[in-house]
Amino acid sequence: MATEQILTIRRPDDWHVHLRDGAILAGVTPYTARQFARAIVMPNLSPPVTTVDAARAYRDRVLTAVPKGIDFTPLMTCYLTDSTDPEDVARGFDEGVFTASKLYPAHATTGSAHGVTDIANIVPVLERMAEIGMPLLVHGEVTDHDIDIFDREAVFIERTLAPLVARLPELKVVFEHITTRQAVEFVESAGDRVGATITPQHLHINRNAMLVGGIRPHAYCLPVAKREEHRLALRKAATSGSPKYFLGTDSAPHAVSAKESACGCAGIFNAPFALESYATVFDEESALDRLEAFASENGPNFYGLPLNRGTVTLERCDVEVPATVDANGTPIVPFHGGTKIGWKLRA
Ligand code: NCD
Ligand code: ZN
Repeated sequence: MATEQILTIRRPDDWHVHLRDGAILAGVTPYTARQFARAIVMPNLSPPVTTVDAARAYRDRVLTAVPKGIDFTPLMTCYLTDSTDPEDVARGFDEGVFTASKLYPAHATTGSAHGVTDIANIVPVLERMAEIGMPLLVHGEVTDHDIDIFDREAVFIERTLAPLVARLPELKVVFEHITTRQAVEFVESAGDRVGATITPQHLHINRNAMLVGGIRPHAYCLPVAKREEHRLALRKAATSGSPKYFLGTDSAPHAVSAKESACGCAGIFNAPFALESYATVFDEESALDRLEAFASENGPNFYGLPLNRGTVTLERCDVEVPATVDANGTPIVPFHGGTKIGWKLRA
């Protein structure tokens, strides 16, 4: 058993976060900036961030929301649509505005209505991205009405992801927020141009957390949490030491009123205690010595970006996670809200 009381690691990054816009952006960005040096910022705004100009303007708004004295770099993404122009994407990458492009299958999740209806429509974009070394970030779920929601990730691998990787082996692909054993098996079997992010919630909860004893909207996100066997496969992968897995919180804030509704939004807001949440998992798996690679090394190495300088320190102690947090006037329930977590990030 690990008995460390204090853990110091290189400053980490979040390779998948939703910072939103407007008042909520100002409310949630400080939580991410306090924990992470950089973050891959998701483009699923309304309207989505589909152009270089829109990404530049959004980046400026994010930077305005970063508290003074905190060094935080937002890395912007291009929301792919059926009509994305390969040259725009390449120009945005070349100008240092876009770090990656995001593939949302149309109607797969929050803010994906303008997403790609058929991957065949974006092949020229993907070919261009492969040429210039720009990563593709994939929300890996099919949207077919006849496919059960708990099977949508596994079916996506078969129908879309495996054929894509076979066709464009040079393309860097991040399989985002993986939730199944099948996803782990796919990532393991793929070459080193395929990596994956794993969220804290998918390491902590299975679908019972959402459905036993009443329906719990704050445990609902997409891809939805699966059976226990899948959670165990994810924990094994994340703590394995493999360079293919890295930290991506998928922190996805929604107002309490939007979650606690007859048709509640998908998304778990884990930014306030993200690193503590991951540390708890690595601790439980006796793998604290592997947290640094997962949180601070594998991501930049995959993206071809420098490692951060500086460190952060976590200490073992009970911390009460508040039942709700204020995001600039909007109450949001954080992941672990109203419970205790066993690690604390030092200020
Ligand atoms: C995300 C959101 O709310 O923007 N929701 C979620 O459940 N993760 C969208 C996404 O990443 O799928
Ligand atoms: Zn997301």
